Amino acid sequence: GKGIVIAIDGPSGSGKSSTARGVAKARDLRYLDTGAMYRALTWWMLDNKIDVNDAAAVAANVGRPVIVMGSDPSAPSVTVDGRDVAAEIRGREVTTNVSAVSAVPEARELLVRTQREVIEAARDESAGIVVEGRDITTVVAPEAPVKLFLTASAEARAQRRSKEVRTVDVAATQADLARRDKLDSSREHSPLTQTADATELDTTGLTLDEVIALVVKLADEVR
Ligand code: C5P
Repeated sequence: GKGIVIAIDGPSGSGKSSTARGVAKARDLRYLDTGAMYRALTWWMLDNKIDVNDAAAVAANVGRPVIVMGSDPSAPSVTVDGRDVAAEIRGREVTTNVSAVSAVPEARELLVRTQREVIEAARDESAGIVVEGRDITTVVAPEAPVKLFLTASAEARAQRRSKEVRTVDVAATQADLARRDKLDSSREHSPLTQTADATELDTTGLTLDEVIALVVKLADEVR
């Protein structure tokens, strides 16, 4: 049969990436980090000196970089024009500018089309895939049999993200997350939205292994 699709949305630091990768590993599924695609596109815009706050300039250039995502959850990879940018896309410059690029409709159209192709390929090859982002349950794969919206308290999210980026300034991290959440939730095109048909999972008091186990159980129930 066709492979399963597990769609996961949520704000920054809600545990989406770790959860998605853990579930994909546990059930031998492919993995797609759509945030990394917006980050890769942003990295290319900055590298090519394109003003990311000029929506027309971003729109005119979206088709130029070739962004390729690896699908192995144990070793996620992302290349732009053949160059490995996995480290650069987590840097401060990209993180600060990614919400501006992801608000441009032409950027979303292009990346959503690619994301749907990756999902269809996985299904056709009976592989199954875990996809995470901001608009997966609402726009990219609303027909997915498993749809999740991950949340966590602002404090918990800031703690986790601070650990990831190895900073002790949790307050600054929390402010940065709040800024990005606001931009991502209030933009005109495909904002981060929680819908009634996605299962909400508050991960605040849970360990990563507990969250992964819950999602695996949900996935096993629909298979
Ligand atoms: O998930 P991550 O924090 O890496 O996402 C980076 C940014 O990419 C988000 O802040 C958001 O602006 C954008 N994004 C998006 N739609 C997605 C995934 C990410 O707009 N599906």
